[in-house]
Amino acid sequence: MYGMVNQALEALVTERFGAETWAAVRQKAGISDPAFITMKQYPDEVTYALAGALSEHLQAPVPDLLRAFGVYWVAYAKRGPWGKIMLASGGSTYELLTALDAMHARIAISFPDLKPPSFKVRPEGDAVVVDYQSHRPGLAPFVVGLIEGIGALFGESVTVEQIASKDAGAAADSFRVRASKAA
Ligand code: HEM
Repeated sequence: MYGMVNQALEALVTERFGAETWAAVRQKAGISDPAFITMKQYPDEVTYALAGALSEHLQAPVPDLLRAFGVYWVAYAKRGPWGKIMLASGGSTYELLTALDAMHARIAISFPDLKPPSFKVRPEGDAVVVDYQSHRPGLAPFVVGLIEGIGALFGESVTVEQIASKDAGAAADSFRVRASKAA
């Protein structure tokens, strides 16, 4: 994944646990580069190794960390150079969810080697169902956090329930999402 993703993880860990924790995690993950470059492609293994090392260091399950990282990512992306593209892509949780593929396609103009995920959204009563497809395994908890982060972006309260899992043989990871304006 592009260095931007690893940089966001670094920002999260440094903000919440300090620079020493990040140094320890980086070392445990076997990463010698002192800093990630935003626009450089790194093997996905680097990101997975960082998540695994952080999990060991904090004694916290990887899925919990990925979920927290998802929430963080939205706020991080908002203040970055592509934040305006994200905000212009929708004005509510449902709108942005529906626009995610188009948004990543616009972002891919800057990141030509992007291997973006795909999100298909369909209404279901007062909720929506989101089918998530990825080239990468194990990121469903990240998506849960991302959707929660999108809710926070718009001041909406959001519940996310995973209703199908690729790990369990489904064609996609599917989530039922309910968003409402927080009182
Ligand atoms: C300004 C906003 C955003 C930017 C700049 C951005 C950019 C990126 C980049 C660079 C990657 C790494 C993929 C690669 O290197 O091949 C990525 C992956 C991903 N993005 Fe975004 N993204 C943004 C917002 C979002 C939002 C709001 C979501 C909400 C669901 C999202 C969902 C994902 C997921 C799930 C992945 C993991 C890759 C995978 O599933 O295979 N992104 N994005």
